[in-house]
Amino acid sequence: MITLNINIDHIATIREARKGVEPSPVLAAQKAMLAGADGIVAHLREDRRHINDNDVRNLRKLVDTRFDLEMAATDEIINIALDVVPDLVTIVPEKRDELTTEGGLNIHSDIHRFAALSKSMHNKNILVSYFIEPEISQIDAAKKVGADIIELHTGTYANNFRSTKFAHEYARIKKAAEYAESIGLHIAAGHGLNYNNIKPLLKISQIKEYSIGHSIISRASITGIDSAVRDMLHIIQTYSRL
Ligand code: PXP
Repeated sequence: MITLNINIDHIATIREARKGVEPSPVLAAQKAMLAGADGIVAHLREDRRHINDNDVRNLRKLVDTRFDLEMAATDEIINIALDVVPDLVTIVPEKRDELTTEGGLNIHSDIHRFAALSKSMHNKNILVSYFIEPEISQIDAAKKVGADIIELHTGTYANNFRSTKFAHEYARIKKAAEYAESIGLHIAAGHGLNYNNIKPLLKISQIKEYSIGHSIISRASITGIDSAVRDMLHIIQTYSRL
C-alpha cells in the first residue's frame, strides 16, 4: 500500500503572516488525518518561519498515525527531536535564505555526523529518513549512515514535468528507487508534487510513500482540507493500480 504524508507547514505560514494564533496547523493535521492522511509532516526550521516549538509538541500529542519531524542536522534541532520523540525524522539541508528546501542532502559532506545522528535517534526508537537526490552514491551513503528510509527529492522532476527533460528526470527517479529497494531501503518521495505530476511516479512500485505539502494546502485553501486530502488519496489509489 502507498501512504500519503501531509506536510502542514504552510498552514503555519498563513498564521505567521499576522503572527497570531490562526489558522492552527494542529487543527489542520487533525482534519487531514480524519480525511485519511497516513502521516503528518512538519518542518521545524532554524528561523521558525512557520512551524514553531509549541506546534511540534502539540503535534506529537495529537498525531497517532505517524508524526514526521523534518529537520536540519543542527545540535539545537537534534536535541528538540530527541526530547519530543516523533515517530520519524526526515533530515534535510537547510539554508536561511531559501524559499523552500532546495535539493537533497549531501550525506558525504559529513558522514560521521549523520551516522551519529541515526544512532541517537534509533536509541529513542525514532526512524530516520534522509532526503537525497536520486543518485546511487547518495543512496549508498544513506545506507551506510543507518537510514531506515530515503526520501527521493522530486523537485527537479516536478520542475521539468512539461519539459523535454521529463523522461530523463523520470528515469533517474525510477533507477534510484529500484537500486534503493535492492539494498533494503524503504523509499519515499517528495517535493513539488501535485495532483498531476504525481501520476507517472505512481507506476514506480518501489516508492511506498509520498510527502506532499504545498499543492494540497493550496487546494485546501479553496476547497477545504478534507476534499484536498481525499482528492490526492483518490489519485494515489487509482494510478498506483494502473
Ligand atoms: N519533502 C521534503 C523533505 C520537503 O522539504 C518538503 C518541503 O517542505 C516536502 C517534502 C513537501 O514539498 P511540497 O511542499 O513542495 O509538496
